[in-house]
This record gives sequence, C-alpha cells and structure tokens, in this order.
Amino acid sequence: MPEFPTPDVSSRRAAKAVIPAAGLATRFLPATKAVPKELLPVVDRPVLQYIVEEAAAAGIHDILLVTGRGKTSMVDHFDRRPDLEQRLEAKGDTERLAAIVRPSELAEIYTCRQPEQLGLGHAVSYAESHVGGESFAVLLGDEFTDESDPVLPDMLDLQARTGGVVLCLLEIGDDEVSRYGIASVRPSDLAAGDAEVVEVTDMVEKPALEEAPSRLAVVGRYVLPNAIFDAIRRIGPGAGGEIQLTDAMALLLKEGVPVHGVVFRGTRYDTGAPLGYLQAVVELACRRKDLQLFREWLRDFVAGGLGTGERGG
Ligand code: UTP
Repeated sequence: MPEFPTPDVSSRRAAKAVIPAAGLATRFLPATKAVPKELLPVVDRPVLQYIVEEAAAAGIHDILLVTGRGKTSMVDHFDRRPDLEQRLEAKGDTERLAAIVRPSELAEIYTCRQPEQLGLGHAVSYAESHVGGESFAVLLGDEFTDESDPVLPDMLDLQARTGGVVLCLLEIGDDEVSRYGIASVRPSDLAAGDAEVVEVTDMVEKPALEEAPSRLAVVGRYVLPNAIFDAIRRIGPGAGGEIQLTDAMALLLKEGVPVHGVVFRGTRYDTGAPLGYLQAVVELACRRKDLQLFREWLRDFVAGGLGTGERGG
C-alpha cells in the first residue's frame, strides 16, 4: 500500500476551486443537446454564475472550469462584452450594465477540457496541474446553495485544520437514498462555524434503502487534499464503468486520511434535472422583489386549480 504523505495540515485554506462541467446532461435532454445545463437560466442568471458567486463569497477567486465538447460558451459568460456594455451605457441602463460586467469581476476563470466523459473523478483529474500541490474545492456545475446559508466557508476552514477530505452532507428522505452516495458517520469533536461536523467512516454509492447506513447524502461540494489526484490514478472504473470521485475518496479513507462531513441545513438547489430546476426557478423568482407580479400570478394560478392566472409581460 503506498504511503500517504503527511496531510497538509498547514492551516492553509484552499484558494482554488474546480467546477466539473463537462458532463453529458442526459437527464435534461433535449434542452441540453446544444446548450450546456450549466448555462440554463435560473430567473435571469445562469446556474454557473450562482456557483461562481458561491465560490467568490467564500473567498475563492481562482476557478478552473472543466469543460467538454460544445460547452465553451460557458466561458463567454465570464468575459467582458464591450459592444453590449457600450449600448447599455448609451441608453443609460446602469443596472443592466452592472449586471453584465459583474460575472467578469467575480473570479479569474481558467478552463481545461475533459476529452471523454468518463466520470466525475476523471473530470477532476484534469485539474491537477492547475491546482498545483494544494488542497482545493470542487463545486459541481449543476447545483448551488442559497446565498443566505453558505456552507463552503465552514468546509474550507475545517479542511485547513484536518488536511483531509471534507464533504457536504445533506439529510434526505427514504425515497431519495438510492440516488445518492450515503455516508456512514460517527460524532466528531470538531466544529465548523455553527454547523454540525461528523466523522465519515464509510461511503456507499446509491444503496438500497435497507442497506443505507444513514440518511446523510454526499452532495456536490467537496474540499479535497492534493492526494486525491494520486488516488484517482490508483482506482479503476467503478459504478457505471466511470472513474468515480467517491471511489478515490473511499481509498483515501481506507488509507487513514481523515474524512469529515459538514451537515448542511440550508437550502440547496439541484438543477441537473427538470424537477429540481423548476423548483429552483420558482423559489428564487418568488423571492425577487422586482418579480412580485410573478408571486401574485403563481398564487392565483395555484388557487385556481392551476388553470387560471393572468399573464403579464
Ligand atoms: P452528473 O452526474 O450530473 O452527470 O455529473 P451529467 O452527465 O452532468 O448529467 P446526467 O446524469 O447525464 O443527466 C455531476 C457533475 O459532474 C460533471 C457534470 O458536468 C456535473 O457538473 N461531470 C460528470 C463531468 O464534468 N464529467 C463527467 O464525465 C461526468
């Protein structure tokens, strides 16, 4: 068994994030045949912008986007658009002007390509040279947390102390167990802000309900030590024939690397498939003061047995 290097307990907080966004998005076809699911709008911002905002709010301003075929338009969203800026400036539309400049100010965006979609672990492996020798965060490209309830800062602080793997765990219902990686946990003395921290002793990918060791699902935020790259090299294809990030993390766990979970009690939006996407759009639209009319329309629509509701422009 290869010796695991001394964990980088340098109390250095990870400063880079990787957003794997090269997946084929089959659950959202045909919408995602030509449009990356990461660019689908939630109200008036693409999903990916919420994710980059989440990283930036946690102090991460160096982001590597793992892209694939037909997905390069994602990068354009974080670039400047001088022609559009001039037009808005001439019209005196300062609000929209600020809104289109904002994405370019959030972070430095770098990209690399995953040439074949061989799984999440495989996608993360392409980040090795960009990340260098440090720990780093991984934010999946199709989910985000509500800005009022951030989890990433606590995860980053905790990882700087343990030097190991830090996961985001979400309590789910019985009916959802078979869709997630489920963690086996025991209490931990560590704290992360106000959040509960548990020690992870095992992870089972998409178990049957009877075999699930808990109701704590591993969701799409991770803070990982650099040793994950070596672990990815040492695992073979797992579930679905893909190189699974879960398998690489399980290997590190087996070799004694500390793995902790921060139990997330806030709101998470999963936009990878139509149902969760629609829920995110409706929830965030209802919170917008400038879309008060949507909220009123929705109330009438629901009260009218989903059959009425006056439409506005
Ligand atoms: P998903 O499991 O949602 O896969 O990946 P997917 O291909 O995007 O979507 P479905 O299941 O076919 O509908 C979770 C995250 O990992 C990325 C995806 O882009 C998404 O952000 N991913 C997945 C990659 O970057 N490469 C892969 O090979 C697989």
